[in-house]
Formats: sequence, C-alpha cells, structure tokens
Amino acid sequence: MSKTIQAVRGMNDLLPDVVARWQRIEAAARTVLAAYGYREIRLPLVEKTELFARSIGGLTDIVEKEMYTFEDRNGELLTLRPEGTAGCVRAGIENGLLHNQVQRLWYAGAMFRHERPQKGRYRQFHQIGVEAFGIGTPDLDAELILLCARLWRALGIRGLTLELNSLGTSETRAAYRRVLVAYLERHRSVLDEDSQRRLEKNPLRVLDSKNPAMQEIIRGAPSLADHLDDASRVHFKRLCEHLASADVAYTLNPRLVRGLDYYTGTVFEWTTDRLGAQSAVCAGGRYDGLVELLGGQATPAAGFALGLERLAELLALDASETGDGQAPQVYLAVLDEAVRAPALKLAESLRDRGWRIECHGGSGSLKAQLKRADKSGARFALLLGPDEVARAAVSVKDLRGDAEQTTVALNLIGDYLKQKLA
Ligand code: HAM
Repeated sequence: MSKTIQAVRGMNDLLPDVVARWQRIEAAARTVLAAYGYREIRLPLVEKTELFARSIGGLTDIVEKEMYTFEDRNGELLTLRPEGTAGCVRAGIENGLLHNQVQRLWYAGAMFRHERPQKGRYRQFHQIGVEAFGIGTPDLDAELILLCARLWRALGIRGLTLELNSLGTSETRAAYRRVLVAYLERHRSVLDEDSQRRLEKNPLRVLDSKNPAMQEIIRGAPSLADHLDDASRVHFKRLCEHLASADVAYTLNPRLVRGLDYYTGTVFEWTTDRLGAQSAVCAGGRYDGLVELLGGQATPAAGFALGLERLAELLALDASETGDGQAPQVYLAVLDEAVRAPALKLAESLRDRGWRIECHGGSGSLKAQLKRADKSGARFALLLGPDEVARAAVSVKDLRGDAEQTTVALNLIGDYLKQKLA
C-alpha cells in the first residue's frame, strides 16, 4: 500500500457531525443579519498582495509573517485572503457601491493565515464578516454590537465579554505613538525580544503582548484614552451610552489595539474564558480611513468578523443538540434484490411528498439493514420484500418507539407517515 496523504497542517476537514453545528450558526446569522438589513456579498479567495499590504499594514504580523503569497503563472503577486474587510472594500469601490451610499454587507468563508496552529487557531479558518459603509455616527457602532448580542442570544451562547476601546483618529494615534515610544524607550532594557521588535515597527502592538513578564510595563504605560481627540471621545461616549440604554454590558479595555492597522476610533472584541488562549470569538471596529486609502472617496465604515471554528467549539461545549434536521426520517430496507425497482419507485414517490428517505444500497441481511437504519437516525424503517410487493404493501417498523411492526398499503404509506411524523 502506498503512503497516505494527509491534510495540510492547520487546515481541517469538517466532518458531517460538525457541519451540522456550523449550519446552525450560519442559519442563525443569516436570519439576524437580514433583521438588520445586511445583504450578502461573495468575494474572491485570492486578491493582489498589494491590497492586504496597503490595508492591513506592512508592519503587522499578518502581512509580515502570515500570508500565503505566491506568484501566479503570469508572475503576478497574489495572496490567499487572510481576512475579508480589504476585499470587501476593494469590491465596494470597484463596483461603485460606496460613493454617497449606505451599504450594509456581509460575507462568509475561508481565510488563510500561516500562524502556528493550536486549539482554536488554524491556517485555514472561517469567518462571517459584516461591514457597514456610509454611516459615521456611533449608532452604527452600537448597531453592530447589538447585532452580535442578538446572534449570541439566538444561539443560546452566554457568558461572552464585550471589550471596548477607542483608538482615536490617525493623528491622535500618531501623537500617542510618540508618547508611548518615549515611555518604552525608557524601559527598553526590560522589553522582551518581541516587544523590542514591535517598538521599532509598530509600538502600539507592544500593549498587546501576552508575555506575563511584560504586563507590569504595559500597566504603567501612558493610556491612549488620555490622549484621545475630542471628536473621538464624544463618539465613544455616545456609543457607551447607546449600549447602556440597550442593556448591553461591556468592559473598557484600554490595551485593546487589534492586529490590523486600518482601525480608527471604536474597536471591540467579544471574548470567552472557555476556549483557552484563543479567546476572541468575534472582533472588529471602525475603519473610517480605509476606503480612501484604497482609492475610493472618503467613506466612514465599521464592521466585525466572527470566527466560526471558535463559535462552533463554544456551542459544542454546551451541546444539547437536538439533531440537525438532516437525518433521514425514513430508512427503506430492501429485502430482496428482486424488489429493487419497486423500492426505488417507493423512495422517489415519498421524496416527491417531501420526506427524507435513505434507501439501503447493496445487499444485506434484515438484521444488518435494521442496524444501519438505526444508525441513520431515521424514525421509521420501511421493509420491502417480495411478500410486501405481492400484497402492494410495506412493513413499517418504528425505530424510536415500542409500537408493534405493522403493514400499510403502498398507496397509503404517504398519509401514514404524514400522520406519524407531523
Ligand atoms: P481578526 O480579529 O483578525 O479581524 O479576526 C476576527 C476573528 O476571526 C477572530 O476574533 C477569531 O475569532 C477569528 N480568527 C482569526 N484568526 C484565526 C485563526 N488563525 N484561526 C481561527 N480563527 C481565527 C479581522 O479579520 C477583521 N477583518 C474583522 C473586521 C471586519 N473588522 C472590521 N470589519
């Protein structure tokens, strides 16, 4: 036998049992997004590398270390999308969706980052992303957060923490950056290697260090909140008021800086303490400068993306799953190859009436077929053999109850199932 080929590290197969949970999340998200007027957009998996370098920022971990970038056959530099916002903005500009308009959009799909894989962190992962364009006021920030809260309720997810911060305008950040760098320079000797590197390139990211040894330095650092410009301060205050009046609890986290450079003003993350180190299940914020940076007219914008793997993992912890609505309702056992043709006909006629029927394939003893029927999750097994066909009937076995096996005329079986399964 030749050696088996395995999946690429960090890229997972999603087996049918897991997919059922994902579909539950996707269906709930679809309903909630429609309730707020968001419409789906579908975007390419591959974009020009330049798009991500310009929007996420050349000095971020994503662009520096994590992108799957390659030259195609024409020598063009392309990248598998590491996130969806940049592509969504690109598509919005390119298709004339953004200028002087309000757009509420969402997308779902695979993203790729060459991170070190661990529980909750993968190299191919999936997001549902939500982006709103054309509204610069804090009610939109609140809308995005309320939408998330409604989705958690719809999924029965409790116990997430909403962390909030404001990064101010890019001018505010530039001024704060100078103050922060001066502070960090004074403590350079105790900065770990990673923070020293970040200090050179992207000093705000030092605040994001998870190294316990760095926490004291970080706690003592000047706070961005004390350097916010007036407009950002008012915007953030309004958002907090909106959330309070909608009874959404939040925690202010002045160290929340996010790993992508396009944010301005509000940033937020929904976190959990139930998934280990990868605690963020959903994250986003305002990016009022990005449309212009990518060549469009200046347009305020905000959005977020949730991580489907992490959310599904969270749901699995409380699994009180009641089936996925996809198991067959009826398993059709075919007791003799001679009745294959009427069996197929029966299965088709029941599908015409909307039932989910799994038909036994190949041969097998009655016992083996009933074992399969039980495993399939079906409520009833229909047994069809030469005797039944001769009588224009089918035997019915209730797989989940203790009712006696019974025989039903073929022309009445649809009505029988309707009565039993309704
Ligand atoms: P992000 O924080 O990089 O933001 O990713 C959003 C979410 O995707 C994370 O909170 C996490 O749940 C999930 N995620 C990220 N990386 C991984 C990974 N390697 N494995 C599994 N899950 C992961 C963005 O991507 C922004 N585009 C969000 C946004 C939209 N901001 C504005 N609009």
